[in-house]
Order: sequence, then C-alpha cells, then structure tokens
Amino acid sequence: MFSKASIDRFNQLETPFYYYDLNLLQQTVTECQNAASAYGYHVHYALKANFNTRVLQTVQAAGMGADCVSGNEVKAAIAHGFDKGKVVFAGVGKSDREINAALDADIFCFNVESVQELLVINDLAGAKGKTARVAIRINPNVDAHTHHYITTGLEENKFGINTWQLEDVVFTLRNCANLEFTGIHFHVGSQITNLDVFKKLCEKVNELHNWFEHQNMPIKVLNVGGGLGVDYYNPDENPVCDFESYFKIFADNLTVKEGQEVHFELGRALVAQSASLISRVLYVKNGQKKNFLVLDAGMTELIRPMLYQAYHHIENLTKQELVSNATINYDVVGPICESTDCFRTDLALPESHRGDLIAIRTAGAYGEVMASGYNLRDRVQSVYLEQEQLQVSEI
Ligand code: LLP
Repeated sequence: MFSKASIDRFNQLETPFYYYDLNLLQQTVTECQNAASAYGYHVHYALKANFNTRVLQTVQAAGMGADCVSGNEVKAAIAHGFDKGKVVFAGVGKSDREINAALDADIFCFNVESVQELLVINDLAGAKGKTARVAIRINPNVDAHTHHYITTGLEENKFGINTWQLEDVVFTLRNCANLEFTGIHFHVGSQITNLDVFKKLCEKVNELHNWFEHQNMPIKVLNVGGGLGVDYYNPDENPVCDFESYFKIFADNLTVKEGQEVHFELGRALVAQSASLISRVLYVKNGQKKNFLVLDAGMTELIRPMLYQAYHHIENLTKQELVSNATINYDVVGPICESTDCFRTDLALPESHRGDLIAIRTAGAYGEVMASGYNLRDRVQSVYLEQEQLQVSEI
C-alpha cells in the first residue's frame, strides 16, 4: 500500500524505477536476526537475490554473513564490509581465477559441489601454501515442492554431491593436505512456502551428520541453505516473513551437538518485499479479444513472471482511490519484442489510461539483479525510501 504522498512523489519521477523501502528492509533483517539469534543460528545473506549497494549496506549493518556464488559477489561482499570470516563461496562452476581470488581473500569457506572441485581447490591452495576450508554441498534428494526451475535438491539437479558419492568425498578429503573439512551444506530450492519441506531436510541432515561422524569426520558447521518463501499474493498483509516459525522448525528437528554452528543462507525472504517495480502505462490497446496495457517496464526489468510463471501483485496506483469497483481485464505487457514479455494475462484493473502509475510488487529479490540490456534498453534507476526521505540513485 502506497501513501498518497509517495504516489505524488513517484509522479514527478521518470519511470520505470525500482523503489526500495529501506525501512521495511531494515525491519525485515532485524526480525530475522532476532529470530535466528534466539537459537544461536548464523544467517548469511545470499547476495544473488539482490546486490544493490544500499541493500548490501543495510544487510551488512545487521551483522549477517554473505553467501556468494561468483568471484564478483565475494568481492562485492568484502567491499561492502561483510566480515570475510563470514563469507562463503558456493556454486557448481567456480573458475580457477575465482577460487584463487577467494583464497587470497581468506574467506571462511568454499561450499564444494563435486569431487573434482575438491581436487582443484586442494591444488590451488597448495600452490599458495594455504589451507582452504571446505564444506561439502550434498544433494539430499528432498523435493522442495516449488517451481521446477528453482528446485535444486533433487538427484536430477546439477547441484551438490549425491549421497552415493560420499565415500569418495571422504577418501579425497583425507588425502588432500590443503583442505580443512568444516562441515556439510544443503540447499533444496527457493520460494518454499510449505515448512514441512524444511522438516524433511532436517531429517536428511541428521542422517548425513551421523554418517560423517561415523566416518570419524567431525562436523563444525551445519549449513542448511536458504529457500524460505514470501507471500507474493498479499504483500501488504505479510510484508515480513514469519522467521520465528521458520527457525523453530530447525530448533525442533535438527540435531546439533555441543560446539557446532548452524548456518542459513537466506536471500528472497530478506529482500523480496522491500521493493516494487514502478512503471507507467505507455499505451492502452483495446482489441476484440484482448485489452493490453503496454507498460514502460518489461522482462528486462523483472523477468520472473516470464521465466517462472511467477505471480507478482500488480496495482494501478493512479486509480488507487477510485470509488467505483468497475474493472476491465487487461493483459499487462512490456515493450520488449517478445510475446512472452507479459506480466499477467486477464488482470482485472480499474479502467486505466496512458500515464497511469503501475506498481509491480515484491520485486526486491531476483528483480534488479536479473535485469538485462536486451533490446538495448536503458538501465533503470533505483529510488530509496529511508526514514521519510526519498532518494534517487545516480546510474
Ligand atoms: N543458497 C544457495 C546455494 C542457493 O542456490 C540459493 C538460491 C540461496 C541460498 C538463496 O535462496 P533463497 O533464500 O533466495 O530462496 N531466480 C529465482 C531464484 C533462484 C534461486 C537460486 N538459488 C527466482 O527468481 O525465483
């Protein structure tokens, strides 16, 4: 819900833009940190969800660690003040250059996704006379019950090491003098709204935890990944996730021994609700079969609806205060030369006109970071609400 004052201010700005409510972001990270610290849990922010500088500054200030999936994310995390002792580097395809840079930066740990990668890190660390801390990312074959494009923990997914390869892993770890085994890592998928999935994950982690200890491979860190979903349908009613219920699942189901740490890697749940994509209607095309609202934002600014059939709440801010309940069904489309450039089909909105402001909500996670320059589009600006101040970024 946007205040009339915000809408008046939006009206003076060039569209499209990402609008970040830094107050809400602050509240979200604080609630998450409080809920996690009640159990002594450590949260690493998954930079892939959003690496906008203001977002990173806000998350870093809350004391979270950083979960990175590229050399540049590692660099960005350290440049934004994240403690390098709380930086982890995951990803199925780390290049030698990226591994070397992370070794030079002395990050906390590599989350390793194959036996071959273990051997490469061992060689590269040895060449530098260093020891690399490694956690083993295990594919637990747990169904996240989310869109199949964002499921990661099934055997057919490319991520992690399958359980039947773990003997080979242990053998490799024992024979690699430049590796220090820190623990085990899991991530089964994203936008998980059924908390039972995390319960199942805990059962698998407990099983594998035991297995490693039986091999005489003590575990210091249990990293259970991220994936907590947000309410895309009701951003005003549920602006902040129920972090307490989420962490409680782990507190109730995960076996943790004295001295062990539990790490989480949350992305979406921390940042999704704090941003909207604000756009204007360029044209209204009334056809015989369809009415189209052509926006000045498209899949180049928010690709989730086109890539994952993702739902984002869409509202006409200009007509927010309209008293009439009459609506027209529109296909809300972008300007990009692709038929898939459609945010929603048959959306009932008040009669809309050229120049109306349209908000596409819950765009803070995997929005700006997945933007592209397709059609040689301009990069769009970001606008930040902090306290009561609206600030416009310089591109
Ligand atoms: N850890 C690992 C190893 C991951 O692969 C991911 C996300 C996360 C943590 C953070 O997950 P989150 O808490 O944000 O669910 N672009 C897609 C989502 C891709 C997620 C990739 N991995 C989307 O827009 O839905």
